[in-house]
Amino acid sequence: MCMDAMLLTEVEPLLNPLTPVTYRVVARHVETGDVVTLSLEPTSGPSPFSFKPGQFNMLTSFGVGEVAISISSAPGAPGPVEHTVRDVGAITHSLCTAAVGSVVGVRGPFGTDWGVDGFDDKDVVIVAGGIGLAPLRGAISYLVDKPGRTGRVYVLVGAREPDQITFPDDLKRWERDGAVVKVTVDVPDSRWWGAIGVVTTLLPTIDFDPARTVALVCGPEIMMRFTVRGLVDLGVALASIRVSLERNMQCGIGWCGHCQLGPLLICRDGPVFDYSAALEKLISERER
Ligand SMILES: Cc1cc2nc3c(=O)[nH]c(=O)nc-3n(C[C@H](O)[C@H](O)[C@H](O)COP(=O)(O)OP(=O)(O)OC[C@H]3O[C@@H](n4cnc5c(N)ncnc54)[C@H](O)[C@@H]3O)c2cc1C
Ligand code: FES
Repeated sequence: MCMDAMLLTEVEPLLNPLTPVTYRVVARHVETGDVVTLSLEPTSGPSPFSFKPGQFNMLTSFGVGEVAISISSAPGAPGPVEHTVRDVGAITHSLCTAAVGSVVGVRGPFGTDWGVDGFDDKDVVIVAGGIGLAPLRGAISYLVDKPGRTGRVYVLVGAREPDQITFPDDLKRWERDGAVVKVTVDVPDSRWWGAIGVVTTLLPTIDFDPARTVALVCGPEIMMRFTVRGLVDLGVALASIRVSLERNMQCGIGWCGHCQLGPLLICRDGPVFDYSAALEKLISERER
């Protein structure tokens, strides 16, 4: 084999978007009873990808399967790349229980992002339900840490119960560094002293300028629809609201059609979309 052909053969697996690159679990942090953050480093060489907040990777638990998981760390943050996984089925269970030192596969990053680069003079209202904070976490850290921003950052979080609030240390850190952070729970326990109710009840409690606001929303689809309605009622333009959608994925790159929603492929055209009446119709039709 000539040298060029040999090099091509060695490099080709890294270039094939369907071939996972092996990463080692270097840390594992239990966020809540069923949510775990995995810190991943390539098994060899430097990290082969850069990403923008909101994008996702396909994570492989070898011998079990592959799932779409958002990158939950901020771009450019020092240290390993993080993914936060909720244990809902066979593959996510296998990832959530992956031991430190074990190896997983990573393909990506794929999909659209929150577009935070262009928000310097905007107020950014971020609304998260449950594990929906994971795809937003990198965007929030990026916005809070970005020097020279003039707009404010508002982080509104809803969780079912107090012990299901994810990233409590980040919530404290973002508040300390200038963000307005508010958390509400559906069902309080005896130690809960904060707000009670669905996350939309927090919207009227923040003092933002709707005319210069961008909103980023992630959570169950019904929560996102009610949040969009609440934001529009407060004067935010529909075109200034972005949501992240989830569908069952296989290829992650627009080839297989598994993630189709009407004319959209969520992996290729999303997961982050500008909200619109047409998008709402697509989501609502599926909920019936
Ligand atoms: C772009 C994108 C980003 C995502 N980011 C994250 C993330 O950061 N953290 C995280 O924990 N999960 C995330 N998910 C969801 C994750 O991919 C699913 O939970 C996972 O595929 C479930 O696989 P499983 O084999 O463990 O469970 P399964 O046995 O396949 O399913 C268990 C349950 O989850 C439901 N389910 C399966 N796939 C999905 C899906 N894609 N969306 C909604 N419900 C589903 C099933 O209907 C079933 O009720 C993301 C999904 C997408 C499309
Ligand atoms: S997952 Fe294959 S087309 Fe989107």
